[in-house]
Amino acid sequence: MNIYWMRQSNSDVPHNPTWLSQQEHEKYSSFRIEKRRQDWVLGRWTMKKLAAHFLHISFPDFLRIEIFAAGDGAPELYFDAQPVRQTISLSHREHFAIAALTDSDMKMGCDLEFVEPRSKVFMSDYFTTNENVLVQKFNNSALYANFIWTAKEATVKALREGLRLDTRAVEVVELKKDTEQFTFKMQYHKTDTPYWGQAVLFDGFIAAFVCERSQFKMIRIN
Ligand SMILES: CC(C)(COP(=O)(O)OP(=O)(O)OC[C@H]1O[C@@H](n2cnc3c(N)ncnc32)[C@H](O)[C@@H]1OP(=O)(O)O)[C@@H](O)C(=O)NCCC(=O)NCCS
Repeated sequence: MNIYWMRQSNSDVPHNPTWLSQQEHEKYSSFRIEKRRQDWVLGRWTMKKLAAHFLHISFPDFLRIEIFAAGDGAPELYFDAQPVRQTISLSHREHFAIAALTDSDMKMGCDLEFVEPRSKVFMSDYFTTNENVLVQKFNNSALYANFIWTAKEATVKALREGLRLDTRAVEVVELKKDTEQFTFKMQYHKTDTPYWGQAVLFDGFIAAFVCERSQFKMIRIN
């Protein structure tokens, strides 16, 4: 089981959005807040570029790839107007976006955050008691706090619930850190289901990927 991922920044996005389909263009034109439009288009660009790699599509044909939000808000991939079964997920933050795609229809979610200080109030509101203890154990508490937050957001996306779910319903229960990477296990307490993940660090950001399989490989596509 593989999770393929890609990262892009605002400067990678072509200025003229001719690569959006007509339906996507309607959505693009409907945003009232410019920042939201930029985030949305960066996410679409990153996801299409990643999907194009697998569909053997080159730039002029990006129109054939479409990403639509399902009723629950989760993004879904279409090719030539047909749904593609592979799960996708995306996240945008501070002019950067990540996109992730599986080679199956397993549940998967990703999240990107900038590593910045998180307040005690934030942590006591959103983290479990054990997660608060975990953050306090380490000198670099900002890194661990942001790691826990991305792991949670990626998990609530894998569950397709988003922040409608209480963030304490998903908990980091196992964690191993290598130089630039975390490997971890999550528990979804409502159904007692485990999820597994990896998080990578780059340029002051942390990106987490979570799925329902314990054995999976992360593959970055450039
Ligand atoms: C999903 C959510 C956790 C995103 O967190 P965020 O840190 O603000 O934003 P991110 O950039 O990391 O992720 C945004 C992407 O998550 C995806 N997303 C949205 N809802 C999702 C869901 N229920 N499940 C999985 N992914 C979802 C979308 O692709 C979205 O990007 P897009 O709107 O540009 O397509 C948050 O927006 C949320 O929970 N919202 C509440 C649910 C909601 O109201 N959904 C709206 C439609 S019903």
